[in-house]
Amino acid sequence: MPEILILNGPNLNMLGVREPAIYGRDTLGDIEDKCRTKAQALNLDIDFRQSNHEGELVTWIQEARDTADGIIINPAAYTMTSIALLDALKLAELPVIEVHLSNIHQRETFRQHSYVSLVAVGVICGLGAQGYLLALDAMAELIKRKADA
Ligand code: DQA
Repeated sequence: MPEILILNGPNLNMLGVREPAIYGRDTLGDIEDKCRTKAQALNLDIDFRQSNHEGELVTWIQEARDTADGIIINPAAYTMTSIALLDALKLAELPVIEVHLSNIHQRETFRQHSYVSLVAVGVICGLGAQGYLLALDAMAELIKRKADA
């Protein structure tokens, strides 16, 4: 089965208690459970991870080059700052979908520039946990198209 790396950046381990008016009440564990159910239905394997450390995320993306078929990433605050993540995502040479729980375009202007978007096939924001599930749907389709090509 195709393997999808689902990466979560800093502070997303605090979902559930972190600004629930913006990020909702789901914990990251709840989101992982929903992703597992969805992935099973789509015949995808997922590797769901979170880190507060930029370098760790970079290393995981580098490793994914040889082990994964696609990357879904909520880079959190590294979205706006990390050229290192952008470079890692480029070298991974895998389809990338960027997800944000909140609608970053309705928020502070500094949240509206994303380095990761430069490499992402698509971006989903503002739909909460459902964004991850939509990203899995889209990733399944991208992988199918690649296999059929
Ligand atoms: C976020 C939006 C980012 O601006 C913020 O730094 C996060 C979470 C989101 O999921 O809405 O940590 O990526």
